[in-house]
Amino acid sequence: TIYFGTFIHSPRDEASKLDVCEEGAIGVNSDGVIDFVERDVKDIDSIVDKYPSFKNAEIVQTRPEGTQFFFPGFIDTHIHAPQYPNAGVFGSSTLLDWLNKYTFPREASLSSLSVARTIYSRCVARTLSHGTTTAAYYATIHVPATNLLADICSAAGQRAFVGRVCMDHKDINPDFYCDESADESIANTCLCIDHIKKIDPNYELVSPIITPRFAPSCTAEALEKLGKLAKETGLPCQTHISENRNEVQLVKQLFPEHDSYAEVYDAFGLLTPKMILGHAIYLSKKEMELIKSRDAKISHCPVSNSALTSGGAKVRWLMNGGVTVGLGTDVSGGYSPSILEAVRATTLVSRHVALSDGDECKLSVEESLYLATRGGAKVVGLENKIGGFEVGMEWDAQLIGLELVETTGDDFAEEEVVDKVVFEGPKSAGPVDVFGWETWDDKVAKWVYNGDDRNTLGVWVKGRKVWSRT
Ligand code: GUN
Ligand code: FE
Repeated sequence: TIYFGTFIHSPRDEASKLDVCEEGAIGVNSDGVIDFVERDVKDIDSIVDKYPSFKNAEIVQTRPEGTQFFFPGFIDTHIHAPQYPNAGVFGSSTLLDWLNKYTFPREASLSSLSVARTIYSRCVARTLSHGTTTAAYYATIHVPATNLLADICSAAGQRAFVGRVCMDHKDINPDFYCDESADESIANTCLCIDHIKKIDPNYELVSPIITPRFAPSCTAEALEKLGKLAKETGLPCQTHISENRNEVQLVKQLFPEHDSYAEVYDAFGLLTPKMILGHAIYLSKKEMELIKSRDAKISHCPVSNSALTSGGAKVRWLMNGGVTVGLGTDVSGGYSPSILEAVRATTLVSRHVALSDGDECKLSVEESLYLATRGGAKVVGLENKIGGFEVGMEWDAQLIGLELVETTGDDFAEEEVVDKVVFEGPKSAGPVDVFGWETWDDKVAKWVYNGDDRNTLGVWVKGRKVWSRT
């Protein structure tokens, strides 16, 4: 396939600006890998002459009016698929009461495979429709349901990390939703690893991810064994860290022999370059430096952090400290399955942080989009495969249409209505002066602040079209 027209992505190591290519052509081979990237392309014929193997290629083109562009697929580095039906339902709760009131009962219901099927198929379809081409999923403690989530991602074509949640601490977890023992946590994790090995032997699309829920949910024995399993298998890991003040206190009580939350994970061999830490709001400087020195990654979840009154993560501080950051929806602590919403919340939350910590904490639209794509790719260890458009990378992309966020001077239906209204004063200049003046940076900002999944016209993963609006 040759994709032709306007392409926008973040440069590989430059978060503060976007690279816009208005007359581009990208050739994607049958393995879903980008074969060529050409700029200043006047016509497709010249491209086909240059790349004869694309002679019979399908052509997918953005509209020439400057209202559409290709953008890298979004990477959701932290989402709880079983919590999807709870999105929006959190009341005034905060983390620890929210877990007990809404979350554990919901997750427990996935002991039924038919419940799991309904929830997981809708969650995967909906995140794809919002342009999420890669997701790091927390599942539940149930092996059959977790394996089903892997099957559904594989069938739908979503790139995914699927983690069977480990939680064996009987004093913390409810009776109705708890592993029997640390050994059961490990054994069931291994069953889920084996299943994914069967359906996707090289983890090309779907990979297992070792998932201790968070330190309080796990015994020291489980954390230690999961750390060993991570080392033996080389698999990625995910957990939560320092999300809520009471949670941080609880970790101090449960693990008094360790100086900090980050040191608990480090002590069990879990603070590695393959660890994705969700939230990271209340880290000390020492913890941040430890995370940086281990090259563990952070998933910033601003919608959830706001909804559950968790706090405002200091993303600029983390980035300045050299820590790798990506974005997560954290459904259903976060109420929206959309990474575009997380991008928007990233800029807004950073402005609240700026009120106390200084103006330099503000994150721009460009930086937030970087975190949603290149940053996320680094967090999940796929920065050489996804997150941008370069030769050798895989075609994980979305086609964005801005027709609904008023960035065009073309005629649109509302004008007919307006023409019937008799204006008292002088008529304003024509619509072309009102809409259609925007630079590409302006258009992207309008998309981020006013757009939603209606702007996501098509989504591809590894070259396969996995979602289409029409
Ligand atoms: N900490 C432990 N479990 C969870 C969870 O499901 N969601 C969030 N946001 N934090 C957690
Ligand atoms: Fe979470």
